Amino acid sequence: MAKGIDVGTMNIISSQQEGSETVFVQQRNSFVEIEYSDMAEQMLSRSEVLHIRKGDTVYVVGDDALNFANIFNKETRRPMQDGILSRDESSAIPMIQLITEQVVGEPRYEDERLFFSSPADPVDSDYSTLYHEKTLESMLSDMGYDPEPINEGMAVIYSELADHNFTGLGISFGAGMTNICLAYYAVPVMKFSIARGGDWIDEQTAQATGTPVDKVTSIKEEDFALDFETDVGGVEGALAIYYENLINYVIENIEGEVDEEDIEEGMDVPVVVTGGTSMPDGFDDLFAEHLNEADLPFSISGVHSVDEPMYSVASGALVAARSEEDQQETTEETSEEPAETESEA
Ligand SMILES: Nc1ncnc2c1ncn2[C@@H]1O[C@H](COP(=O)(O)OP(=O)(O)O)[C@@H](O)[C@H]1O
Ligand SMILES: [Mg+2]
Repeated sequence: MAKGIDVGTMNIISSQQEGSETVFVQQRNSFVEIEYSDMAEQMLSRSEVLHIRKGDTVYVVGDDALNFANIFNKETRRPMQDGILSRDESSAIPMIQLITEQVVGEPRYEDERLFFSSPADPVDSDYSTLYHEKTLESMLSDMGYDPEPINEGMAVIYSELADHNFTGLGISFGAGMTNICLAYYAVPVMKFSIARGGDWIDEQTAQATGTPVDKVTSIKEEDFALDFETDVGGVEGALAIYYENLINYVIENIEGEVDEEDIEEGMDVPVVVTGGTSMPDGFDDLFAEHLNEADLPFSISGVHSVDEPMYSVASGALVAARSEEDQQETTEETSEEPAETESEA
């Protein structure tokens, strides 16, 4: 049995098959540093708070980081920025390791396959994703897994375009990045990322309106919709402007990157938009509207949103891992293999 994991700037989410169900486990990819005190000790012992203590310092990690930050009047920090391990954060690796261990658990047997999402290189910044990918790979190996990176956009195609022969354009709008992949029968023909996503929208809106970023994020996540009926001059109005700007920016980059040779003539390409940033009502319609005006060497059969945008990447990583396993089983059916450790089919 194999597993999948989505390592995102804001959320780390694992996926595994249990019987006929896919089970997801999620934590915030964030932490807070507080001073050790009696009050901290009491709070830490009360529940299963993920933390590391180093002398007088305690790092509270994952979902609880925000609660502790509020109570102790501290800022949360993030191991990742713009889709990759943060260069400004020396504690990034131990923090992400603790979150990952909690989310994915121990391997069920040695060298269990684990497909982890990895971003494509961004077209609009000069960071490379290589260091990020290799670091995660060795971290997961140290945990006892046999890890394999899967492109984040490709993971979207695996989870959402199975009914279209794994053919189409998958777009994952995350916090730190947007990942874009065009695949043709499960073979990626174009993939890239841009170093903008939900965080960028929040930062720009905060700057434009003089509102704290955290406040902007919570307004956005609560009941913001892209209906353009709201609030000219307010936070929601600014959010709508930057949402539209991000959408146009993604489409311009698709126009720039896509090649005529990539596409079979006369093919209608389905498009899937997913990820936390695609969640506001009206997002898919707005995206479709702008995509229709784009100059592309192929036609679009439709823009689809998904039921659970937070889980697309984790789910696709699992689909890819399991399909590799199935293929191996068929090719190795006659050779001698170690006994299977799982019971379900
Ligand atoms: N209901 C919502 N409406 C709008 N944005 C949301 C909503 N829920 C989460 N988000 C945003 O989605 C992003 C996180 O999405 P996710 O796909 O988990 O990103 P990543 O993979 O980069 O961690 C954040 O920018 C967050 O603010
Ligand atoms: Mg993600």
